[in-house]
Amino acid sequence: MTLTTNDGRRTFDCEPSLTDTEVLEFCKRGFLLLEGIIDDETNRRALDYLEARRAPQPAFLPPGLTEERLAELQTTPEPHGILLEDWFVQRVLLQPIVAAVARSLLGPEMGLPVVMSNHRVETPNKALSWHNDSEHVYGPELHYLEAFYFPQDTPPELGPTEVLPGSHIRRALTEPDQAGVPCSGRAGTVGIHVQSIAHRRPASTASGVRHMLKYNYWRTTPPARNWLTEPALDLRTANFGGHHDARYFAHMYYWLCGRGEQFRVIGGQGWPWSTPNQIGPSYGFEVAEGYVPHWRRNRDGFAYPPDG
Ligand SMILES: [Fe+2]
Repeated sequence: MTLTTNDGRRTFDCEPSLTDTEVLEFCKRGFLLLEGIIDDETNRRALDYLEARRAPQPAFLPPGLTEERLAELQTTPEPHGILLEDWFVQRVLLQPIVAAVARSLLGPEMGLPVVMSNHRVETPNKALSWHNDSEHVYGPELHYLEAFYFPQDTPPELGPTEVLPGSHIRRALTEPDQAGVPCSGRAGTVGIHVQSIAHRRPASTASGVRHMLKYNYWRTTPPARNWLTEPALDLRTANFGGHHDARYFAHMYYWLCGRGEQFRVIGGQGWPWSTPNQIGPSYGFEVAEGYVPHWRRNRDGFAYPPDG
């Protein structure tokens, strides 16, 4: 694994780990969870840093920041200085399994985060509402991934984040009592998701403190199908999801393959929709003329193409 800090950019590269099937599954679910992936010593260091029991030791000081300022930020919702700690970069951001997943989805020379958020909450506490984070945008593009990291054991009783699988393509109609998937796990659990996915903090019942660090990995190269390809995967018959959803998930997969511009659908029972036991592949596979999924109707406040 190589880390490059040239030109003020903090990028790295490594071998990818996800297969075609797993990349497609990520397009459909919008998240994945790696339970207990960070080692215990690093989890302890992270907690010590976030509770100011450990002084900042930045690898370098970016312009405008001082060690005093980094120390002031440690216990705030934005402890950016932890991104300057060598141990955090090497053992959390570049933890080999995490890095290989991110590399699979974002391509080579990925950019490391420049902003760190800590969603610290004292428990027990009530649930938050279902929401999409600020600046979320619906589209087939995957220019960045959001990651979260729990440095302490985070069972359901401590209120881990909860996500709605597949909700990254449009605003989900979410009632307060609608159940999602809890991202619970032992200390060192890391989640990776499409930033636009609907999520919330569920109610917690245990006494304690929950730290949840959130940060982004960034794409710096054009998308290409450069993860672990599976020659046996037949895109004509692959399961891209159900009614209303399949065209969006398929569009995202094609964008990741570097083929987003050519993606067209004809609607109806045509590809990429399919159903089990149909007697032949769906019509409309990779047609030259057809429609592009209308992501902009999904109300995220962004427009494309730009006016004028
Ligand atoms: Fe949120």
